[in-house]
Amino acid sequence: MRERRACGTLTAVSDDRSSAAPILPTHTPPLFKEAVRRATALLRAGQVVALPTETVYGLAANALDEQAVARIYECKGRPARNPIIVHVDSLDMAKSCAKEWPATAERLAAAFWPGPLTLVVFRSAKIPAIVAAGGATVGLRWPSHPFMQATIRACGFPLAAPSANPSNQISPTNAEHVRRLLGGRVPLIIDGGQAQVGIESTVIDLTAESPRVLRPGMIHEASILAALQLPPYSIDGAAMGDGGGEPLKSPGCLVKHYSPSARLVVLAWENDEDLRSQLDARKLPANECHVVSHTRTPDLAGLSGVSVMPHDAEAFARALYAEWHRCDETGVKIIVMETLPAGAEWNGLADRLRRAAGP
Ligand code: TXA
Ligand code: MG
Repeated sequence: MRERRACGTLTAVSDDRSSAAPILPTHTPPLFKEAVRRATALLRAGQVVALPTETVYGLAANALDEQAVARIYECKGRPARNPIIVHVDSLDMAKSCAKEWPATAERLAAAFWPGPLTLVVFRSAKIPAIVAAGGATVGLRWPSHPFMQATIRACGFPLAAPSANPSNQISPTNAEHVRRLLGGRVPLIIDGGQAQVGIESTVIDLTAESPRVLRPGMIHEASILAALQLPPYSIDGAAMGDGGGEPLKSPGCLVKHYSPSARLVVLAWENDEDLRSQLDARKLPANECHVVSHTRTPDLAGLSGVSVMPHDAEAFARALYAEWHRCDETGVKIIVMETLPAGAEWNGLADRLRRAAGP
């Protein structure tokens, strides 16, 4: 055992590598139990821990402890005006974090929790302002990942957790991604396997007169409307842009966000010849382009690489960030994504492609 500095505080860790946090496995009941014990001990001591959730890995801290939450901002280099989602392990815990619990929250929680949906409601006094970036609301989510659930239960308090990546980079979907992104900055990473959803939760604001999707995800608007028993088209669309000096309504909705280091372009092509001419027209050198296709897989000489993605949206979501992380790890310069199919189930993914490509 030796001491190591993690986000400004001294923590005891039993790892040999100075630049990498220990990764604890959870694939047997004894390992799972031991990992819950280690994570809980650190969280109770006001530390941050990288934990698996079904959407993406999160960087967790005690949501009721201002200083612990401040460490999350510090570790991620996150702007202070970007609020953090609070994770709970029951409806009762969610309600204790909310000032009031609207009927819309009751319906959506009944339909989708535990799961990849974040409900923004007015926060109760027990949620410190720092979690809400000074605002009056809090985003609440009851995640379905068994490790996250067990850890919240063992802690007895809700966990604030943004995605476990430096601000503006791609979210991690496995423990190795976390080690690469934040390994030198966190005292512990828990390996809960490959994230089963693969992109971040849908965020819906329930504090205005009509519900509003702030960040699309794999739970799409059509199912939300059905659960709310509302007619089609009665939820407002995603908020775009950033509201000047105000706390951001949902900074995940900034036009450029969630980007790989590589430049990313989204194209639709008919055949190899068409792809070639579009690359030429945009002055994208083929030998710097890694094409990520799902339908029209190119067989074009001189490309830096080609990956084929699954056809169904859920499997695509599970694979997407891992594919982008792999491109970054191997030094790909330009990622050329094939345009996604139309359809509500692709909305969350189309949103991530748009944001990664930028304006
Ligand atoms: O799936 C997820 O949501 C993952 C896992 C770890 O739960 N978390 C995640 O957190 O993606 P983060 O911080 O990377 O993204 C949270 C998004 C941000 O766009 C943030 O602005 C928005 O949710 N958000 C959080 N609290 C909010 C609030 N009170 N009002 C409006 N937007 C909020
Ligand atoms: Mg994030």
